Amino acid sequence: MAAPVSRTGARVERLPLARFTTLGVGGESEVWFVSDHAQLAEAMEQPYRILGGGSNLVIADEGVPERVIRLSGPLAERDLEPDPHLSTEGEIVTGWVGGGVPLPGLIRQLQKLGLSNLEGTVGIPAQVGGAVWMNAGTRYGEMFDGLHTIEIVTPQETRQVTPADLQWGYRDSGIPRNHVVSRVRLRLRPSTPEAVLEKMDFADNARKGQPKMKTPGCAFKNPGGVSAGRLIDEAGLKGTRAGNALIAPEHANFIVNLGGATAADVHALLDAIRARVPVPMELEYELWPERLPGLHSPGSQTTDPHQPDAHRDGPAT
Ligand code: FAD
Ligand code: EPU
Repeated sequence: MAAPVSRTGARVERLPLARFTTLGVGGESEVWFVSDHAQLAEAMEQPYRILGGGSNLVIADEGVPERVIRLSGPLAERDLEPDPHLSTEGEIVTGWVGGGVPLPGLIRQLQKLGLSNLEGTVGIPAQVGGAVWMNAGTRYGEMFDGLHTIEIVTPQETRQVTPADLQWGYRDSGIPRNHVVSRVRLRLRPSTPEAVLEKMDFADNARKGQPKMKTPGCAFKNPGGVSAGRLIDEAGLKGTRAGNALIAPEHANFIVNLGGATAADVHALLDAIRARVPVPMELEYELWPERLPGLHSPGSQTTDPHQPDAHRDGPAT
């Protein structure tokens, strides 16, 4: 049976959100696949959340009551042709790149075209809109290195801004929550595929110590430039387990799903980290919803890795 379609033509389906997240956790919710501005406006008529690549999300096993908006169709397409009115000899400004475009494929394509500025974001499994919204990056570069114009949609208006209009910084675009990054124009520097690849390899190397299991990436932002992973490690928390979630032995700022983890398991580990690390750290993960009912149930107790029955090594994927 074909999926129901909204007044403006958006596909609307109840789906388990686990399949859209890199952690592999999240219950059934109403997903709106919107492919143009009219569909987006309709989806935003009721309370909503916006789902990108799901690579920073911990979603409750009950799902969420709000509409979950996912950009698709033309809002997940890219036009990388230089705009003749905006580009100069030393700088290429592209056509529109949809917020729903997967970032890894875009970065590979830019490398092949020999276009520089965004190669530092290699290996981030986001969509363009989600990566822009939180200015995803690494020590080798971030999204705002390569943005010219950002189109932002709210229930009230659609507006185009430049990075200079926003208070952006480390893992922060300055764009309020639930303002949708619908599409962007990239600002790129002509280079060669070889030179771009060399820089990408450098940034990729920094990931060698990261776990290869199901995870939403780093749990906490680095406070004042200090590695949150190092702080969690120094607190002795590597290998701490709650249910089927584990603080990764490879890198303490990653929580991994050993198979069958629940959102409550992840929340319990986040609480354990907050309780044991003496430095205040800002959460990087997005929790949907922010607090779970019945969090401190026996099923979400943590296991100290220094106790003999603690589970330290998860199965390889
Ligand atoms: P989601 O996880 O789907 O959503 C995250 C937030 O963005 C939510 O609030 C959501 O509402 C919002 N959002 C999503 N799309 C839009 C949109 N179009 N408009 C407005 N808001 C939107 N991050 C780094 O910065 N650097 C890294 O090196 C890095 N490495 C990672 C490695 C792994 C293996 C994993 C799993 C994650 C890693 N991350 C890293 C984290 C993650 O990729 C980033 O946080 C990324 O920006 C999330 O983007 P997303 O599209 O997956 O957003
Ligand atoms: N370290 C430890 N123990 C650990 C983890 C790290 O001692 O468990 C030490 C390392 O040995 C190293 C230092 O801490 O000396 C820094 O570690 P790493 O190079 O892994 O960098 P990071 O600061 O922990 C940041 C980003 C990652 C990004 C990498 C690579 C944050 C919160 N994390 O990690 O981003 O991939 O650099 O550039 O900024 C993300 O944001 O989700 C993410 C994965």
